[in-house]
Amino acid sequence: MFISFEGIDGSGKSTQARLLAETLRRDGVDVIHTREPGGSPGAEEIRSLVLEGDPDRWSAETEILLFTAARRDHLEKTIRPALAAGKVVICDRFADSTRVFQGVTRGDLQDKVNRLHDEMIGVEPDLTLLFDMDPQIGLSRAKGRQTSEERFEDFGLEFQEKCRAAFLALADQYARFTVIDAARDIGPVAAEVATLVTARLKA
Ligand code: ADP
Ligand code: TYD
Repeated sequence: MFISFEGIDGSGKSTQARLLAETLRRDGVDVIHTREPGGSPGAEEIRSLVLEGDPDRWSAETEILLFTAARRDHLEKTIRPALAAGKVVICDRFADSTRVFQGVTRGDLQDKVNRLHDEMIGVEPDLTLLFDMDPQIGLSRAKGRQTSEERFEDFGLEFQEKCRAAFLALADQYARFTVIDAARDIGPVAAEVATLVTARLKA
């Protein structure tokens, strides 16, 4: 089973992905927890190119190519081998992030994103959890982390608001999405996620 975690910056995806992986492992499930951009040595190198530096370092079109290149390597080296070995893959962001961040919020590039995705990636998660919350709170949580990977956070609040709306529109479009209220404390969110995923694994 392939599960992706999506949402705006600071919505708690990384925290929740880690907690879900711990819970499933405790239950004896063979899990890998991975992330995008990154998740394989080559893709981690691309990660620093796209996440560091000035917001105008790359155009949206160049980013589509870089994120898709990273995803292709991640798929070849990490995701496909894990799924083939019968593992549950928990992936912090996947192709929906490109649909939102490059496809919608910085111009109307959805069609290009989807065509490149169909050509080079061609897989979708079985389940996508969308961590939804007010971008103002998300951004202040994200900014509290103090890393050098702030290129997208530096696009500002209006950008994150557009992202939130675009994620919710995708959730309406695709049945694989479940929307999670991410504005709550870590514990209740983690409990809901664990219940949901455990039920899906049993089914
Ligand atoms: P994301 O991966 O979506 O950007 P993170 O999991 O890295 O989000 O969380 C961003 C910051 O907010 C971290 O410092 C994390 O400890 C904190 N955080 C995560 N979930 C919550 C929550 N439910 N309530 C308050 N703070 C949270
Ligand atoms: P991530 O490390 O998940 O950041 P955060 O923990 O703050 O949510 O992702 C870094 C940034 O990369 C994030 O702002 C979204 C962006 N991104 C894209 O623009 N396109 C993509 O395809 C992916 C995977 C991420």
